[in-house]
Formats: sequence, C-alpha cells, structure tokens
Amino acid sequence: GDLPVVDQYQRPLRDLRVSVTDRCNFRCRYCMPRELFGPDHAFLDREELLTFEEITRVVRIAAGLGARKIRLTGGEPLVRRDLPTLVAMLTEVDGIEDIGLTTNGSLLRAQAPALYEAGLRRLTISLDSIDENVFTAMADTPIPLRQVLDGIAAAAEAGFDPIKVNAVVKRGVNDDGIVDLARFGREHGVIVRFIEYMDVGTTNGWRLDEVVPSRQVVELIHEAFPIEPVDPAYTGEVADRWRYLDGGGEVGVISSVTEPFCATCTRARLSAVGEVYTCLFGAQGYDLRSLLRGGASDEELADALAGLWRVRTDRYSELRTEETAQQQKVEMSYIGG
Ligand code: GTP
Ligand code: 5AD
Ligand code: SF4
Ligand code: SF4
Repeated sequence: GDLPVVDQYQRPLRDLRVSVTDRCNFRCRYCMPRELFGPDHAFLDREELLTFEEITRVVRIAAGLGARKIRLTGGEPLVRRDLPTLVAMLTEVDGIEDIGLTTNGSLLRAQAPALYEAGLRRLTISLDSIDENVFTAMADTPIPLRQVLDGIAAAAEAGFDPIKVNAVVKRGVNDDGIVDLARFGREHGVIVRFIEYMDVGTTNGWRLDEVVPSRQVVELIHEAFPIEPVDPAYTGEVADRWRYLDGGGEVGVISSVTEPFCATCTRARLSAVGEVYTCLFGAQGYDLRSLLRGGASDEELADALAGLWRVRTDRYSELRTEETAQQQKVEMSYIGG
C-alpha cells in the first residue's frame, strides 16, 4: 500500500476531526458569544453540509493516507439528525481504529444508547463548572446544569468507557472551581481534563492574563488530592495525564498555551461544509467539497488531501503572541476544536 503521508516537519496524518454542524444549543462566551451568534447569525443551510456518505468517503480517503482516529465534533454534534447512522458507517471504514465524540452533554440522555449501539465507545463532555451559576454564566444557555450532569450519567449507564470531561479554565471565571470539578471526576469515574483557554477564532477577545497555566492547575489539585504523572498513552497525546495516589482515577491538563504540542501534531480538521484545515488556528480551509461534488475520483481526492498535508508547516501555538492572537482565524464552533 501507500506510505503514510508526512508534512514538512515529518508529522504523519493520524487523526481527522470532523465537524458535523456549525450549530449549538449553548452560547459559551469563549466560543459562540451571543452578540455575534444571535438570531440574525447565518448558520449553514442543510444542503451545504457534507452528507454522511460524503463524510464517510473523506474518512476512507484519509484512512488510506494513514489516518487511524476520528473525532466527531460540531458546534454541537448531537444537534445533527441521525448521528448514530454516521457512527455506524464510520466503524466500517478499514484502518479506522478509534472513534470519539465531543459533546456538551445536554442531549445525551436521549441519544447515548443509540450512539453506543452504533459502535461509539469514547465520549468527551465539555463542562466548565459544576457550580450552577458559573456554568450558566460560561455556557450562556437556558439548559440547566443538571441536564448535562444527567447526560453524563446516561452515558455511563449506556456503557461508555472512558468518559472524559473537558473544562476550559478562564482566570477569574471558573478557576475557583477546579478542585470541585476534580472531585466530581473522582466520584463519578470520569477523567477530567483542564484546558488552557486559547485564542481560537476572532470573537472571544482572548488575553494572555486570562490563561491559568496548567502547572498551577496541577498544584491546586495536588494539594487537595495528591497525584503523580502517568506516561502518555501514545506519542502526540494532547493531554498530560496524572493519577490520584489513592486510586481515585486519572486527571489531565491540556497546555496548548504554556507548553504547545505542535511538534507532534497529527491532526487534520474537516469542517461541516467539507473544508480541510491543517491547523486549529488556520485562516482558511481547502474546499474539498467542490471536488467531492464535482465528480472527482478517489485518487484525485487522495492526491488533493495528501498534497495539502505534504506542504503543511503549521505550528501556531509555538508562534503565539498577543499580536498573533489578533489574526483572522477560523471560529472554534465552525471547526470543532
Ligand atoms: P483523546 O485523547 O483521544 O480523548 O482526544 P483528545 O485529547 O484529542 O481530546 P479532545 O478532542 O477532547 O481535545 C481536547 C481539547 O484539546 C480540544 O477541545 C482542544 O481545546 C485541545 N486541542 C485538541 N487538539 C488540539 C490541537 O491540535 N491544537 C490545539 N492548540 N489544541 C488542541
Ligand atoms: N480555548 C480552549 N478550549 C476551547 N474550547 C472551545 N473554545 C475554547 C477555547 N477558546 C473547547 C470546548 C470543548 C472543545 C470542543 O473545545 O470546551 O471542550
Ligand atoms: Fe457549543 Fe461547545 Fe462552543 Fe460551547 S464550546 S458554544 S458547547 S460548540
Ligand atoms: Fe496542531 Fe495547529 Fe494545534 Fe499546533 S496549533 S497543535 S499545529 S492544530
């Protein structure tokens, strides 16, 4: 078969992150601020979205170039109709070893069983606080915190393992709840990962002094519940893993600001309309949909994707400054994080 394709820094293409919709029922301040994603915001029309057949085709092409891991994202992926059907289609693709889904958790009570039945095993739920007021201030949604907590419970009942929680830490907003969230993870058998707040997109008004360095998060947790480092599960793992000394499970930190991991970045991203981004901080994607809908052969599609990857030099997080933060970048809700 073909050799795995590598970029200008010898990084292989291993993961494809697939956004299935740009819509979301939350309006997290750091992702889709309501002033900019209000009733007048033009979301994508249904015909613009890649169909499940088109997504599956791109995944098959990417697998042929070496991709092994798929992550479904949004917006909120569970607002896309019939998502379990897509999951079932993707489990059939040769070479794909791992499929994960990142969700805000609010729709899991209804959908977790069908997703599990379709073959999904790994779930990550975004949850920034277990304090009702802080949760509501950050997610800016009428959906109550308990609905997300119930979604996590439903996922566990359905059999998902592992269940991870992603928490974006913003100084002065939710950093006083770090230990509470860590405790929640211990009590529920959930791996909580604290993410440094990033300057994704152009709408979140990011400032460096709002970032709480992971080192401080680790110290805070260690004081409450002593932890020790765990080796990465695979090279290029995004999260640094830690283990509670008392057997309370694992916790992690994702330090994309203070300790960028571009050197091992093997991720490509596919937007809901079929644009390929080779970096989360890209300004523009490559329009694969035109090829898909213009009658291109599998070989032509593979050549296009491989060509994009081979010239890739992205390492935004290593180059980040308060100045680069002002650049035009794709919105997180559009590309899925
Ligand atoms: P698993 O380890 O397989 O569970 O996947 P993961 O670590 O990729 O988890 P997830 O997809 O939930 O990613 C966690 C978060 O890390 C994302 O929401 C982003 O905030 C951040 N992240 C993931 N990939 C990248 C990346 O390529 N660049 C940057 N800067 N941040 C990333
Ligand atoms: N910085 C860090 N993480 C972010 N996410 C969304 N916006 C940001 C940001 N500015 C996270 C969400 C979710 C994932 C898709 O990305 O909380 O866990
Ligand atoms: Fe929606 Fe996730 Fe963005 Fe929050 S972070 S607005 S839940 S897509
Ligand atoms: Fe990869 Fe870009 Fe993130 Fe660096 S900033 S890890 S190159 S997606």
